[in-house]
Amino acid sequence: MSETAKLRIGDNEIDLPVLVGTEGNRVMDITKLYAQTSCITLDEGYANTGSTTSQITYVDGEKGILRYRGYPIEELAERCDFTETAYLLIHGELPSADELEDFRRNVRLHTLLHEGMKTIFAGFPRDAHPMAILSSVVGALAIYYEDALRPNDPDHQELAIYRLLAKMPTIAAFGYKQSIGQPFIYPENHLTYCQNFLQMMFAVPSDRYEADPDFVDALNLLLILHADHGQNCSTSTVRMVGSSTVNLYSAISAGICALWGALHGGANEACINMLEKINNDGASIGKFVDRAKDPNDPFRLMGFGHRVYKNYDPRAKIIKGVCDRLLKKHSVASPIFDLARELEEVALSDPYFIDRKLYPNVDFYSGIIYRIMGIPKQMFTVLFALGRLPGWIAHWREMHDAPGGMRIHRPRQLYTGSSQRKFVPLIKR
Ligand code: CMC
Repeated sequence: MSETAKLRIGDNEIDLPVLVGTEGNRVMDITKLYAQTSCITLDEGYANTGSTTSQITYVDGEKGILRYRGYPIEELAERCDFTETAYLLIHGELPSADELEDFRRNVRLHTLLHEGMKTIFAGFPRDAHPMAILSSVVGALAIYYEDALRPNDPDHQELAIYRLLAKMPTIAAFGYKQSIGQPFIYPENHLTYCQNFLQMMFAVPSDRYEADPDFVDALNLLLILHADHGQNCSTSTVRMVGSSTVNLYSAISAGICALWGALHGGANEACINMLEKINNDGASIGKFVDRAKDPNDPFRLMGFGHRVYKNYDPRAKIIKGVCDRLLKKHSVASPIFDLARELEEVALSDPYFIDRKLYPNVDFYSGIIYRIMGIPKQMFTVLFALGRLPGWIAHWREMHDAPGGMRIHRPRQLYTGSSQRKFVPLIKR
């Protein structure tokens, strides 16, 4: 028999259905609460609120588990490539060899940008942040590709999805080239997704370039690890914006903006800045840990803590291992990596972090790998966005295909402003 929760408000007692998913917490369904009681719920930051049902990604924060479509992240990271993972997230199943080849071919078809779009890059100041460039130019796809704007038309959906997967790396790399004053390097479609991106980032017309296979593998892995994470801030943004039935390009552009913040994807850049600051200051790690613990100091350990993980983030565990291997293989000394490991050790033995279950998250070590690869700091969050793209797309599609139809997202509020007041004319104020 299905479980219910009883709720009494004044004399009114109602039963709330308790839903059970395939895994995870029980969920009280409050959909009819307002109609039955005129009450709404309040949950600042949505810490306790399920905004939707979803079949895409399962996260168990207590146990440190992450699975895409049922497949453990550790296995996907070891055995898949990024485009295969993208297919899995978007279509729900691992592709057959033919399906994967077809998917890759369709992505390859769309890697070029409309030539007119180059003028957009030219108008940006040299020091523009690449995340601002990425969100602007992805938003501009809705101007240049008006033939695929209808979000409910399956053909338009498909075309917009291929275009985004294909063009985001080109946009990201063009933004970087513009910022350093080098000519744009056009995509080469005989290369893999990750090879192509590194080629567009680092090749110059005057020299031959071949991406280091270790870096290609590392990039592939990082993109997979970032590809989805349930109803996080940027994914919820894509769903929120998309729920108004706006086109996919605009919804993804909004997601990129949400990702940029330092509490979300921007933490990878902020984390390297923090580690460099600690290193350059020559200050003791203890000083920064003390600052992070001080309730009167806004400083936080970047790359530490997570809304959902109350255990080691499984992605951070994988990234730390790769970091170690890459540094050894390339015989690179990284004082920053040594510092990060020391910082982790100090924090994880401190009662403040233990009591609050604060562990390194995906952003703690990823920046160190990007640095080894020669990716500039400001591009770190852009790479997070490239990785998260299939997840955003999968959620946007899932919302559109919801069996009961899609509803615009429209939270309510607890109003605490003035009650009705008498208007005072300007002359009397
Ligand atoms: N350093 C020091 N204290 C922290 C940290 C931190 N990094 N994170 C959380 N706390 C403390 C916080 O001060 C609070 O203490 P108290 O209970 O005494 O007030 C307690 O831990 C709970 O924190 P919260 O802010 O209520 O937790 P949240 O779930 O709202 O925030 C978070 C999660 C990720 C925003 C936060 O842990 C944080 O700011 N971390 C640093 C930024 C970061 O690394 N972000 C990347 C997240 S993972 C990738 C992604 O999602 O994009």
